Amino acid sequence: MAGRPWDASYHDGPAPWDIGRPQPAIVRVASAGGFAGAVLDAGCGTGENALHVAALGLSVLGVDVAETALALAREKAGARGIEAEFAAADVFQLERLGRRFETVMDCGLFHTFDGDERPGYVASLASVTEHGGTLYVLCFSDEGPDTGPHPVRQEVLRAAFDPSHGWNVAAIEPDRIQTRFHVDGAPAWFATIKRI
Ligand SMILES: C[S@@+](CC[C@H](N)C(=O)[O-])C[C@H]1O[C@@H](n2cnc3c(N)ncnc32)[C@H](O)[C@@H]1O
Repeated sequence: MAGRPWDASYHDGPAPWDIGRPQPAIVRVASAGGFAGAVLDAGCGTGENALHVAALGLSVLGVDVAETALALAREKAGARGIEAEFAAADVFQLERLGRRFETVMDCGLFHTFDGDERPGYVASLASVTEHGGTLYVLCFSDEGPDTGPHPVRQEVLRAAFDPSHGWNVAAIEPDRIQTRFHVDGAPAWFATIKRI
């Protein structure tokens, strides 16, 4: 983003990641029963992933710093008759929500943070995730041609979410992130991480 405020990326038409449908990885995990209890979407954008999970009957809160994205997410929820909550919040201060979640998803946010920002983000996620709860991280990977911006090495995920930070990485699978500029998506990791 090179210093550009996040909200601005929603002003002139859809942002590169705003594909108008949920990420296939989220659809797949949701249909396999991977979401349970109260769900948090960290950096929800215009809400496609949150709305997909909410449409299954789960209680979902999407948070973002971009008010324009949140307004679009609320509009979609209303138009589709889906009950979901969208609120402005900084993912570095999630404890301020005063709530806890059994399932948390991060689609395309972790990889935007620098190495020195990650510990604070990981601690913030830990502060709102129930012990035994599940975090899903879908991020650009460094493996394969046509990688997305800010590709992440698998070891970076494992180091960020290690037991000393309150997490156990259950699985990291190769996946794809769909964007508006990749015909078949960009190489990604789909990480399933358990809160200790
Ligand atoms: C790459 S976009 C992904 C959006 C959405 N998850 C999706 O898949 O379409 C990252 C999102 O995280 C939001 N974001 C960035 N930093 C944030 C922060 N500190 N707190 C909350 N949201 C943040 C941005 O505004 C943006 O909507």
